[in-house]
Amino acid sequence: MRKFLQRALEKIEKMDRTQIRQLVSDIAGDNELLEMVMESMSDGVVVTDREDNILMVNKSAERMFPFSTDDLIEKPLNQAIGDKEIREFLKENLHGLDRILDQEFTLGDGYSRTLSLSIMPLVRQGWITGNVIHIEDVTEKRAKEARLRRAESLAALTTLTAGVAHEIKNPLGSIGIHLELMKKEMSGKKQIETQKVLENLLIIKEEVDRLNRIVMDFLFTVRPMNAELSYDELNRVVRELLDFMKFELSEAGITVDTDLTKTGPQILMDERYMKQAVLNILKNAISAMPDGGRLRVQTVQKGNELLLKISDTGVGISDEHMDKIFEPYFTTKDFGSGLGLTLVYKILKEHMGDIEINSKVGEGTSITLSFPVPQKEKRLIGYNEEAQ
Ligand SMILES: Nc1ncnc2c1ncn2[C@@H]1O[C@H](COP(=O)(O)OP(=O)(O)OP(=O)(O)O)[C@@H](O)[C@H]1O
Ligand SMILES: [Mg+2]
Repeated sequence: MRKFLQRALEKIEKMDRTQIRQLVSDIAGDNELLEMVMESMSDGVVVTDREDNILMVNKSAERMFPFSTDDLIEKPLNQAIGDKEIREFLKENLHGLDRILDQEFTLGDGYSRTLSLSIMPLVRQGWITGNVIHIEDVTEKRAKEARLRRAESLAALTTLTAGVAHEIKNPLGSIGIHLELMKKEMSGKKQIETQKVLENLLIIKEEVDRLNRIVMDFLFTVRPMNAELSYDELNRVVRELLDFMKFELSEAGITVDTDLTKTGPQILMDERYMKQAVLNILKNAISAMPDGGRLRVQTVQKGNELLLKISDTGVGISDEHMDKIFEPYFTTKDFGSGLGLTLVYKILKEHMGDIEINSKVGEGTSITLSFPVPQKEKRLIGYNEEAQ
């Protein structure tokens, strides 16, 4: 209750007529303001009492909600709501103690609308005396998001197809030239020199293989991944990979320095994909250090996240290139496909992870992958720590 009202009520016995009139007028003014606020809101609000009867409902709620009657005040909410799904949802959740936020419902056939409902308990002096139901019409918001997603995937597809078109131009050109050479070799001759033809055929075969690789890489990049996530230890995967690559690393004159968290934590991952992502990053680090260098691999747990940091002392990435390295087919290498980091990014997204890159030309590059540590795991760690 507002303080001035409480004070006035305490003294009401001693008030004269004018003071009481003033008090009633103040309360009416307050009430009017509250009503005005409720009616001007674009979101819908319905307030119910403990028995789920409607105490208050604003215009926006009347407009958005499919109410089955006009006269709403003091009606049981259950009878007033037309939509079966919303009715069931409210019936199940109105008496819980927690807030329920942003449950979405799609209404109507033909021109459908999406409503987002939240339920907040109405607490008065420590007791739950009913509920406030907040309704937001998110139809436009969702449609805008979907449009944006479509535009983004279309843009990504355009870059990718432009890349493919560019990539296949060279092998196709080369096949054309060698076919032409063979034609020249054969035209007007009764007997042909097989050696020359064979040479050309071999080149054509190589180019066809290259085309095949480009198509396979393309398909691998655009296809959904269907990663199968299960609890696993990232440190083990990293250790196995470093072990697998130790020969290649020492041949390249690279010393490896590891600093991995001692225990766990486990994260949700698909081992095959995770290995592929880390392998791509390690391969990039190796090719960034053609004259050898140092590779540092570290895992750190920071709050709800597990970080994997891979740093090299290689050539670094210029600001100009930094914006492009995740683009499909962007490469600075003679024999690179430019799909390595595109795949890393795709795999990370499947793992709800993220990537951050810091680099300085001439000094090296540091790549940090971050993964969420599931709550279950966090609680286990907490429990273990207490038990020790
Ligand atoms: N650790 C790094 N140091 C320096 N440059 C890097 C590093 N990692 C990536 N890059 C730059 O980013 C570019 C894109 O990398 P990405 O892995 O996508 O393709 P790629 O390595 O060129 O080809 P592929 O992975 O198919 O062999 C590389 O060509 C390189 O210029
Ligand atoms: Mg690469």
